[in-house]
Amino acid sequence: MTSLQDLSVVITGASSGIGDATARLLAKEGARVVLAARRADRLEALKADIEASGGTALVVETDVTDRAQCEALIQAAMDAYGRIDVLINNAGVMPLSLAESVRMEEWMQMVDVNINGVLYCTGAAIPHMISQEAGHIVNVSSVAGRRLFFGGSVYCATKHAITAFSEGLRMELGPRHGIRVTCIEPGAVSTELFQAIEDPAFKEAAPEFKATPIAPEDIAESIRYAVSAPSGATVAEVLVMPTDQVR
Ligand SMILES: NC(=O)c1ccc[n+]([C@@H]2O[C@H](COP(=O)([O-])OP(=O)(O)OC[C@H]3O[C@@H](n4cnc5c(N)ncnc54)[C@H](OP(=O)(O)O)[C@@H]3O)[C@@H](O)[C@H]2O)c1
Repeated sequence: MTSLQDLSVVITGASSGIGDATARLLAKEGARVVLAARRADRLEALKADIEASGGTALVVETDVTDRAQCEALIQAAMDAYGRIDVLINNAGVMPLSLAESVRMEEWMQMVDVNINGVLYCTGAAIPHMISQEAGHIVNVSSVAGRRLFFGGSVYCATKHAITAFSEGLRMELGPRHGIRVTCIEPGAVSTELFQAIEDPAFKEAAPEFKATPIAPEDIAESIRYAVSAPSGATVAEVLVMPTDQVR
């Protein structure tokens, strides 16, 4: 297995949920983590927790919808640690709504965060990983990247895009440059993600969701598994769902 000791790991969306849990777990394993999101107060509190446990963390306040901020994030990681071993594109939003409600701002926000943010960060990291002839890009897609659900037309479209982008990256960057690419596809996870749902029409019409969400730490474990695989082995795709989630 690959040791995580001293690996330089950039995590977007580290201020809550899956990103927070992943930062804590990888830092505990010895990785030097770069924490990115908009809520700097939360990132500072996370950094303090990690350092109190003997870990190493850097906070870079970042809005991933801004290309220049994504480039500054990657540069800050390079300046601090001299390399980027792992980029975890985890930041995401999910304001589900009915298509008929035409909530254009929310649609654009999902495209900007869930797709463009991933492209900006990945595009900034690729040249460094090519120079290193090594690296690992972990994209947090979703079960929504494999199938559609009611009220998720745009969210599922963004996650399908990330699943496709991940496979395309893997096909090119692995054989040509030794860079690994992993697509993580969580089912329902207990995080703040659902709090952004505001469309009254969706709330009224949505079918009851019956699964018992799993913990963000469960997804963090999947990411740890992918990152710590032997360097010649790429864990290309991981779908992790609550046992009682049907689809
Ligand atoms: N929870 C689930 O059931 C589930 C299932 C499948 C996939 N996922 C995916 O898992 C990933 C993490 O979500 P989560 O469940 O952990 O939800 P969460 O707790 O709401 O975390 C979302 C993270 O994204 C960050 N973010 C949002 N907009 C951003 C922006 N413009 N710039 C930078 N960061 C931004 C948030 O930080 P700030 O607000 O501080 O910027 C936060 O840290 C997402 O990609 C989501 O689609 C979640």
